[in-house]
Amino acid sequence: MKLPPFKLERYFARYEFNTEFLLCSSDCEAMSIADLLALEEGTVERFHGHWLGYTESLGSPTLRKEIAAMYATTTPGDVLVFAGANEAIYLFMMAALKENDHIIVHAPHYQSLSEVAKGIGCMVSPWRAREENGWALDLNELRHLMRPSTKAVIVNLPHNPTGFLMPRADFDALNKFAQENNLLLFSDEVYRESEYDLADRLPAAVDYGPHAVSLGVTSKTYGLAGLRIGWLATRNRELYEKIASLKDYTTICNSAPSEFLAEVAMRHRMKLVNRNLAIIKHNLAIVDDLFSHHPSLFSWHRPKAGSMGFPKLLQGDVESFCDELVMKAGVLLLPGSVYDDTHNHFRLGLGRKNLPQAAERLEGYLTNLNLNRTL
Ligand SMILES: Cc1ncc(COP(=O)(O)O)c(C=O)c1O
Repeated sequence: MKLPPFKLERYFARYEFNTEFLLCSSDCEAMSIADLLALEEGTVERFHGHWLGYTESLGSPTLRKEIAAMYATTTPGDVLVFAGANEAIYLFMMAALKENDHIIVHAPHYQSLSEVAKGIGCMVSPWRAREENGWALDLNELRHLMRPSTKAVIVNLPHNPTGFLMPRADFDALNKFAQENNLLLFSDEVYRESEYDLADRLPAAVDYGPHAVSLGVTSKTYGLAGLRIGWLATRNRELYEKIASLKDYTTICNSAPSEFLAEVAMRHRMKLVNRNLAIIKHNLAIVDDLFSHHPSLFSWHRPKAGSMGFPKLLQGDVESFCDELVMKAGVLLLPGSVYDDTHNHFRLGLGRKNLPQAAERLEGYLTNLNLNRTL
């Protein structure tokens, strides 16, 4: 299988570790191992004594028990643990799809959600989020995208990069549609539990039935990307077994220290969620303020969940804007072109503690830009 470069990851490869301010990160602020272990008494000694042999391929039973408890209907036997969410996406597609299958994918999207399927030889139709509608998805459009060969619908809710969250009635209807049409629903839920208003939280897709697969990870809402622990939850036994057996060709099993730490994190995940939501909400107020100073330069749909938004640059070309900003001011934004967006959007990250300083640097840069224009 041939896979093209992952545009977003290649962009980060150029800048992530040499730029002062990352103002487009998708994950929330991370923490140290010491801070994580401080959440539970006795874990420091247990971590030091943790065995460094191979681990169980499906994921450690105690970690899977913690993950299964996040959902209403799952048991540890419905959960499979991977090295991050990206491995889970890859293996789901390898197991579920074959050449000439058709899939429908929420767009714009994190590239692997369509690219792996294309690599397998599938046809991919984008199901486009409509900015004029607050980045909503229209279920009537989904009906029109259907073909006899449609095998799966892929959605990402809360959405990277717009922060869109589908209304509950639409998500119910989407699940019903998938069930009635014998489709798999792959629901990338890596930003779940980061809803700004708890009332907006959607049920996990896995809890609707065996047509669905829910994807989760420690990286985003919980701010622990360095653990590289992601998971799939599904009550579809056949699919579960196929994915489990393909994992023998990628990572075989997960990192033992990471599984230990992920288990602690999941047991205390509400503390991590509250810490990270406080950072996001503080940052949102600063960003709202910044955009309100520049109404002719930016348009901005406030996200409903997650650690990012997708504002639009109203003047000039977004790629050059981002290039100049990172070179001259040391602030990294992510041009929408890495998502194949052609409407001058860029991704703005909301989950990092140093956003206030990054926003100040951006504001200074914009002021300078205006001064130079008027001179
Ligand atoms: C929507 C979405 N899915 C999956 C992933 C992959 O997550 P991880 O890097 O933890 O494997 C990301 C990462 O940015 C993402 O935004």
